[in-house]
Amino acid sequence: MTYPTVRMRRLRRTPALRAMLQRVNLRPSDLICPIFVDENLNKPKPIESMPGISRFPVSGVVEEARAIVKQGVKSVILFGLPKTKDEEGSGAYAASGGVQKAIASLKKELGDDLVVITDVCLCEYTSAGHCGVIKSSEIQNDSTLKILQKVVVSHAEAGVDMVAPSGMMDGQVRAIRTALDDAGFTHTAVMAYSAKYSSSFYGPFRDAAECAPQFGDRKSYQMGFGNVGEAMREIALDIKEGADIVMVKPALAYLDIIRAARRRFNVPIAAYNVSGEYSMVKAAAANGWIDEKNATLEILTAIKRAGADLILTYFARKVAEWLKTT
Ligand code: PBG
Repeated sequence: MTYPTVRMRRLRRTPALRAMLQRVNLRPSDLICPIFVDENLNKPKPIESMPGISRFPVSGVVEEARAIVKQGVKSVILFGLPKTKDEEGSGAYAASGGVQKAIASLKKELGDDLVVITDVCLCEYTSAGHCGVIKSSEIQNDSTLKILQKVVVSHAEAGVDMVAPSGMMDGQVRAIRTALDDAGFTHTAVMAYSAKYSSSFYGPFRDAAECAPQFGDRKSYQMGFGNVGEAMREIALDIKEGADIVMVKPALAYLDIIRAARRRFNVPIAAYNVSGEYSMVKAAAANGWIDEKNATLEILTAIKRAGADLILTYFARKVAEWLKTT
């Protein structure tokens, strides 16, 4: 029984042999590239805590997406930064909002070459910076659902292919599915941020999207990092509510959750290689402590090996470029 192992040990692992025996390979089409659309800009603005990543004005989104598609990536996920914030995050469903405009121009210019996904959450749009409406310092789950319904319909009217609710409100997938269907958008898909942990690794994103909570934290609606079973329940519920794709987030410290989900569920699984995971690699590489390319390919391959079909990553464009030459 030990024979094959012994045999493998005697092999010379030449590059050709390694390539031949590698079971998990990244493809550019596995990757989903986040784009920040900022209504307040007229030229791209680098994000300090995420070297290499910028926010884009609405007018710059198509050019950026074109460059991404050229590398073989098939999908982008849009995050919006509005001009003004208010209590109910009404900027999130404005027909003339930055995200809505960006969707329309992406679909017009790139059509079916690109799958346009939108992050659906209120945290960038509410004055309190929470993912839902707040009353007496408490998240109002059900009134938030009504707003999320307006948001997805506004995205669908602009032509979005898929919406991705990330606010961890209870019942959000069903509410969104129902609103889309009732408005005639039965073909618009839902990728649910199902197993979203309350994580330190979102730090740089909150800077990028200016959505840090103004008080408290997100622990009342995001999951605690000590639990596996809860993630499985959240995923099962979202599938039942109509999610087409489910997500585990963050990715790197949660490979076991991805693996458990893979074993249990027969739907496409996405994993979010979040901002903190990105910035840690960038910072260490900038110091010459690790090799950016090799570390990134190793991390993303590990995420896929754990069981993710799709990976949301700020490295998407770079990785697609690297994959052409490796
Ligand atoms: C907003 C949202 C967050 C991220 C994606 N959507 C922030 C949060 O939940 O606090 C994090 C992404 C990242 O860190 O890259 N709901």
